[in-house]
Amino acid sequence: MTARLLDGKALAAQVRDGLRAEVAALADAGARPGLAVILAGDDPASAVYVRHKEKAAAEIGVLSRVIRLPNDVDAATVRAHVDALNADAAIHGILIQLPLPASVGDPRPLLERVHPDKDVDGFHPVNMGRLALGEPALVACTPAGCMRLLASAEVPIAGRHAVVVGRSNIVGKPMALLLLGANATVTICHSRTPDLAAEVRRADIVVVAVGRARLVKGDWLKPGATVIDVGMNRGDDGKLCGDVDFASAQAVAGAITPVPGGVGPMTIACLLDNVCRAARRALGKDQP
Ligand code: GUN
Repeated sequence: MTARLLDGKALAAQVRDGLRAEVAALADAGARPGLAVILAGDDPASAVYVRHKEKAAAEIGVLSRVIRLPNDVDAATVRAHVDALNADAAIHGILIQLPLPASVGDPRPLLERVHPDKDVDGFHPVNMGRLALGEPALVACTPAGCMRLLASAEVPIAGRHAVVVGRSNIVGKPMALLLLGANATVTICHSRTPDLAAEVRRADIVVVAVGRARLVKGDWLKPGATVIDVGMNRGDDGKLCGDVDFASAQAVAGAITPVPGGVGPMTIACLLDNVCRAARRALGKDQP
């Protein structure tokens, strides 16, 4: 068997095309969606991610503003920027690019300072809590993108066994909650899971987000399983690769996301979707 490719690049382009008309309509109604990104420090990967976000926003008419702060910035300065953006009616979404430099200390108080209605990353405890309760929420972009990939490929979720490898607040936990919300039976695996291969082998859907190059092998998979690879690593061979060993997995899986061109583009498309959602909500609130 050769797995069907889940083409995130094509789906993301489709999502962005759909949003373009919505952005124009919101702009006509006086709420052109606006995204502000706080980029602190000189992490090269973060600089690349933020450039991609700016470009994607501009392409569909979303206003984007990047606040660049030095490597030795303190928490009070970042907090003051967040407060100003919370109060700025032209900005509907605020994103603090992670990781923040060490000079800032614990990032959590800053992430919690972002108003939940502008939290387009879905990292605020209010949004995570709403997601856990099954209430409408701004949902973290990468797991939201994974769900859209599954929906677009018409992968059945209800009643299926989903295994999420990785328990990060950004991907693993919200991913598990989304799959649970779609009525999957969900197992969350992590570094202390004794027999990871055995857990993965039970999965109809496996989502891997651990940041370890080619960790999951083809012979760990149930034949026909759907594999969503969130990883983005540089392998020993210097090539960009995911957390799944694509060559061996492709021969066993029913469907699989490539790296690059799978989950990555969906993250940005879902970020823009969240900005539009926040703008729509702000417009609703402005109306009498
Ligand atoms: N750094 C790596 N991924 C992300 C993300 O999804 N959001 C933010 N804010 N920072 C990140």
